[in-house]
Amino acid sequence: MVMTKTELYGLFGNPVAHSLSPLMHNCAFREMKLDAIYVPFLVEDLEGAVCALRALNIRGVSVTIPFKTAVLPLLDEVDDSARAIGAVNTILNRDGKLRGFNTDWVGLAGCLGEAIEIRGRTFAIIGAGGAARAAVFGILEKGGRPIVMNRTVEKGEALGREFGCSFRPLNDISTIEADGLINTTPVGMTPDEAKTPVRRGDLSRFRIVMDVIYNPLGTRLLREAAEAGCRVVDGLGMFVRQGAEQIRIWMGREPPVSLMHQIVRRQLENKKKGVEDSRVQGAE
Ligand code: ATR
Repeated sequence: MVMTKTELYGLFGNPVAHSLSPLMHNCAFREMKLDAIYVPFLVEDLEGAVCALRALNIRGVSVTIPFKTAVLPLLDEVDDSARAIGAVNTILNRDGKLRGFNTDWVGLAGCLGEAIEIRGRTFAIIGAGGAARAAVFGILEKGGRPIVMNRTVEKGEALGREFGCSFRPLNDISTIEADGLINTTPVGMTPDEAKTPVRRGDLSRFRIVMDVIYNPLGTRLLREAAEAGCRVVDGLGMFVRQGAEQIRIWMGREPPVSLMHQIVRRQLENKKKGVEDSRVQGAE
């Protein structure tokens, strides 16, 4: 049998076809001169897929929708932050021992923190799902004050209670006092690009507006926030930073973050251009 030294990494999710993680990670591995590849796995059977990590000696995987919570009980160890958030987006396989991490909060707090000092500041977080949990955790971790704002009151209240922070219904957005606003809902994501979670007139009260969505890069929320004079942060930086942190966990080495950023941005821009070109052709 021919033994290969190539290390295998991958993505567990369903769907996975549109993920930009394979492009980003393979590009980083090449630049780092690693003999490693990253493959998307369309998972139907999560338990079987986790067993396969050990059986095939897959060194690490990213975990995405809809498995980030379901994977927790299948692992040998879960890092404290991932346990608090209740979601694992990264698995490290060291000699058959599987350890779960969450790098979404690192990505979010990292790129928000680059745009504004988080400590001592208040951030209204729209949503109460997994991305909102990572945002609340990240802001608390960096010394900020999150206010959970959600459409469904019970779900938002429960999240606020769990993390010891305040909750306000989403309808109260026009009276909220906060330095920043963070959208963690899918409202405005492709193909529903005409939608926005917050009315234009309510945006000027925030100094900074962040959207975790990166597809499209400039959501309607961010466009209107920029027009209202707010500083804006798109979801690309968070995506790249969560991926960069995965490489630090898997390899213990510093990844080429700006190259990763560049490659993902170019892909998103090309995709947008492709959509626009096909619209033009369609009009002919
Ligand atoms: P994720 O884990 O990716 O964050 P999720 O668990 O499905 O996704 O959570 C999505 C969040 O977006 C929810 O808090 C949801 O609000 P509800 O709790 O009221 O369902 C919020 N959301 C989704 N669509 C929304 C919309 N049209 N307006 C406002 N909030 C919305």
